Amino acid sequence: MTRAPIIAADATGIARAISLLRGGDVVALPTETVYGLAADACQPGAVARIYAAKGRPAFNPLIVHVTDMDMARCLADLPDLACDLAARFWPGPLTLAVPVRADCGLATAVTAGLSTIALRCPDHPVMMAVLQGLGRPLAAPSANRSGRISPTCAAHVAHDLGAHIPLILDGGTCAMGLESTILGVNAQGRVTLLRPGALALEKLGFIPDRADATSIAPGRLASHYAPHLPVRLNARDARADEFHIGFGAIAGDCNLSASADLMEAARCLFDLLHRADASGRSGIAVAPIPETGPGRAINDRLRRAAAPSGGLENPYG
Ligand code: TXA
Ligand code: MG
Repeated sequence: MTRAPIIAADATGIARAISLLRGGDVVALPTETVYGLAADACQPGAVARIYAAKGRPAFNPLIVHVTDMDMARCLADLPDLACDLAARFWPGPLTLAVPVRADCGLATAVTAGLSTIALRCPDHPVMMAVLQGLGRPLAAPSANRSGRISPTCAAHVAHDLGAHIPLILDGGTCAMGLESTILGVNAQGRVTLLRPGALALEKLGFIPDRADATSIAPGRLASHYAPHLPVRLNARDARADEFHIGFGAIAGDCNLSASADLMEAARCLFDLLHRADASGRSGIAVAPIPETGPGRAINDRLRRAAAPSGGLENPYG
């Protein structure tokens, strides 16, 4: 396939995306968190294209994006607490892993054999227009090759997946820049943190349980979000030939947020990792980031970027 065209996410672009999705193809498109690689979640051939384009292992299930609670109810048996959380945070960067309905009609590869499904209602006009136009749930993982840095603009997607997909809808830079927070809610109403993310845990008003080895999100491989260069954390200074990503008073070659604003740092993180990776240096050093609010999700992604490849780990256990 030739390189994917990047087209503006205007009415024409959105119509083109919907038509490709209807025909069983994949399309990269913006959300408020990161760019997603979407396919009609009900078409097995379309879902298979996501796994092929990303090089994603078949055991790693996909997040399904919905227009609203009505669509969510067709796919999952929503525990009361999941309904409460959705009412508070949807549309927005919260994904809920809940018991899947036997009659959900989704391609089986979407859930990778699990009895739960991860649902999210995105807060982005382009993604929402595509969802509403299609009228079906969209499976959409982040639009990067499996294990690589997530994309926060159309150029990142083109760099990583351009040769593997037919279309990238350009909706500008993602407002949040980090993937959604994933909470598991089981039938008994127990809430488990499966992935820290763009929704800061402080906003929940309660502390979710830590995931154990059996409930950890299958895709949380230790080495993830991996740049090609080695990554060194908590670096106040750079060593010779390292590209230094600074934070606050630690200036670095570039800075996640000179004013030490963690929201700004979250928004810039993946872009600076992409830039550092393309710098031609021999390594990436990253300044210390406080472990509060969005800092938790930033540090989670950085630890994974720095981890040696391979192996499953439970970061909370
Ligand atoms: O912000 C986001 O969540 C973005 C945008 C595009 O919506 N999507 C995203 O998808 O980050 P992805 O595939 O890159 O990450 C989804 C994670 C994976 O680690 C996967 O294993 C986990 O969600 N997951 C999917 N279904 C699950 C389930 N039923 N139970 C536990 N984890 C699940
Ligand atoms: Mg991802």
